[in-house]
Amino acid sequence: MKRFRRAIATLGAVACALILSSPSAWAVSWGSVKGLDIVLFYPGQASWEWVLSDHSAAKTVRTGGKCRECHDTEETDMGKKMVTGKKMEPAPIVGKPGSIPVNIKIARDAARIYVRMTWKDTGFHSGTKKDADHPVKVAMMMANKQVKESSIAGCWGACHDDASGMASAADAKRSLYLGASRTAITRRGGGDNVKPDAELASLVAGGNFLEFWQAEVKGDQSVNVKEGYILDKRNTSKTPLVEASAELKSGQWSVTLSRKLKVDEIGRHNIQPDQTYNIGFALHDDYAEGRIHYVSFGYTLALNQGDTDFVAVKQ
Ligand code: HEC
Repeated sequence: MKRFRRAIATLGAVACALILSSPSAWAVSWGSVKGLDIVLFYPGQASWEWVLSDHSAAKTVRTGGKCRECHDTEETDMGKKMVTGKKMEPAPIVGKPGSIPVNIKIARDAARIYVRMTWKDTGFHSGTKKDADHPVKVAMMMANKQVKESSIAGCWGACHDDASGMASAADAKRSLYLGASRTAITRRGGGDNVKPDAELASLVAGGNFLEFWQAEVKGDQSVNVKEGYILDKRNTSKTPLVEASAELKSGQWSVTLSRKLKVDEIGRHNIQPDQTYNIGFALHDDYAEGRIHYVSFGYTLALNQGDTDFVAVKQ
């Protein structure tokens, strides 16, 4: 590794950036990693507040009932209802698929964790390139047990009724946030009633945040990473800790995200064994942006061993 570092140090800065931003250069033997096939589905405007109020299982969710206890295997049908406008979608996009089945594998080595998502390109093009630079974006979010809504619903707890493009947003621009950051929450969301900075800082210090990693894939399959944490809003780092690579080959997308397990950064998890992390995934295709995406329910992750959906084992 030392020799490798020295060798690239002699290359130009551009070449260095190319090499370092390509986790595919790291040797994960993905063939031996057990993956999960997860259907990411179109959620329409089904916000956290809707789930907790107008949804027929609202009471169960309010008392800790997890989405997957009822909805596992229903994702394809659910996505179809929303994408066609039958439920919670005021502006359906004609022909858009309701869901995308994605294979997800998570592995580790001595220093890093790797998340790989693969799926078949849907071939769907609406022609409206809202995010013209990025045909595809993938994201993962990660929380520890402090974020209760995350153990129930993965990233869903950060999706509020007054976020941009949602039913109660009017024209407001609001990104993802957690209820804990607001002084009060109603059926329409928490608005801009954000707690004082000192309170937010102590929430983050206590682990009350969702770490997010996002790979924005460009047309030439190079990747721009957005990474940071969600509490009062999406707080994006200027110097991402995550690296990513993407490839479209024979109609199959493959995007890998990776970062060091051990980090000492505000709003990031120092990923350790004997901990369970609640994770969720999102995928934008067709140059879409904002809420026009596919999402998963909540899954769990542990390192080395555990009774979790994903166990990242050393490679
Ligand atoms: C106790 C079982 C149960 C749990 C737990 C549950 N749901 Fe549901 N959900 C239902 C039922 C039944 C419906 C259909 C009737 C309705 O729309 O209220 C439904 C409908 C939905 C719909 C509308 C699409 C459709 O198929 O009708 C969405 C979106 C949804 N649920 C999301 C969630 C999320 C997110 C969670 C977890 C935070 C969750 N649900 C937890 C039972 C449940």
